[in-house]
Amino acid sequence: MRLATRMSRLGTETAFEVLARARALEAQGREIVHLEIGEPDFDTPANIVDAGVRALRNGKTHYSPSAGSPELRKVIADYISETRRINATPDQVVAVPGGKPIMFYTILTLCEEGDEAIYPNPGYPIYESMINFSGAKAVPYRLSMEKDFSFDVDEMCSLVTPKTRLIVINSPANPTGGVLSKSDLETIAEIAIENDIMVLSDEIYSRILYEGEHISIASLPGMPERTILLDGFSKTYAMTGWRLGYGVMPAELATQVTRLQTNAVSCNAAFTMEAGIEALMGSQDGPAKMVEEFRKRRDIIVDGLNDIPGFKCLKPKGAFYVFPNIAGTGLTSKKMADYLLTEAGVAVLSGASFGEYGEGFLRMSYANSVPNLEKALKWTKAAVAKL
Ligand SMILES: Cc1ncc(COP(=O)(O)O)c(C=O)c1O
Repeated sequence: MRLATRMSRLGTETAFEVLARARALEAQGREIVHLEIGEPDFDTPANIVDAGVRALRNGKTHYSPSAGSPELRKVIADYISETRRINATPDQVVAVPGGKPIMFYTILTLCEEGDEAIYPNPGYPIYESMINFSGAKAVPYRLSMEKDFSFDVDEMCSLVTPKTRLIVINSPANPTGGVLSKSDLETIAEIAIENDIMVLSDEIYSRILYEGEHISIASLPGMPERTILLDGFSKTYAMTGWRLGYGVMPAELATQVTRLQTNAVSCNAAFTMEAGIEALMGSQDGPAKMVEEFRKRRDIIVDGLNDIPGFKCLKPKGAFYVFPNIAGTGLTSKKMADYLLTEAGVAVLSGASFGEYGEGFLRMSYANSVPNLEKALKWTKAAVAKL
């Protein structure tokens, strides 16, 4: 079959491939601990499920406006206005199926051949994939362990050219768990304003933070008009399977992004949007409890990994991933990830699947129970000792 050339530029997310391999081993009777997939292991809080079910029973089974229901857009605008201390209006909000489509839609809307877009590396693989797909040149900036998984300011400045259209940032970050400081954000804001660059700020982990308060680049002076803020329900409310997220951006861009949504999926599932309203308006006990549980697990996994010869792991400030350096074991990231899956029964991701600067690292999600994390640590330590 002859495919369009652009398909050769599209990347992927390896988490789903590793999950399939792990499931195949389980089908053969092997016990596997899953640390590969990035989703909370908790159920969606009952009040949110009830709202979704109620919506279905009340006939929320039809098409709805492409940009999202007016009620949900208003609730999101209010939530973002309050949490980011800005004045966001409903016409700036586009609700989409998961946070991911905001990457797809905004990068396609803003970038094309001849442009450049700067993205974090190691970073969520879809940024690079979508920039390449748009025809623009993907320019990585390095997040290094030595800098607590932040970037070097001089390097960032050196990457900007007159062709730069977009800078992507992600804080708290996948896969490193790093959080950008206010001064890091100020640096990016300064560069963006000076060079007329838009910023895609992926804040999907904004509520999974272990110290301090989340700071959005959109809160900085001059930035609301050049920020696309991506957030959603998947991680905060354990709603990955509902597929509901959103972007908040200048209204003019929201109109264009909505056109892509109309072409792609028409609209979101109506009942999920009712559940989304309840998520933001109802009790926030569920998310708070999840974060406390994640904090306990983070401490267990960080201590356990640092006890394995050849592993070095920082304590992440946000999200639910650790990104240990395993260079001391002598194996590449891919070899170690394969080895741990087949030998130890522990499914993890190679750091290199998050970009070239992820080589020498593994990504492990600690969105799993304490007994499973303890098992994974024990099995990993024993397998590494056999190398
Ligand atoms: C950094 C980051 N952004 C966005 C997403 C996508 O989230 P959603 O499942 O809501 O599309 C993920 C999911 O893993 C992520 O890690």
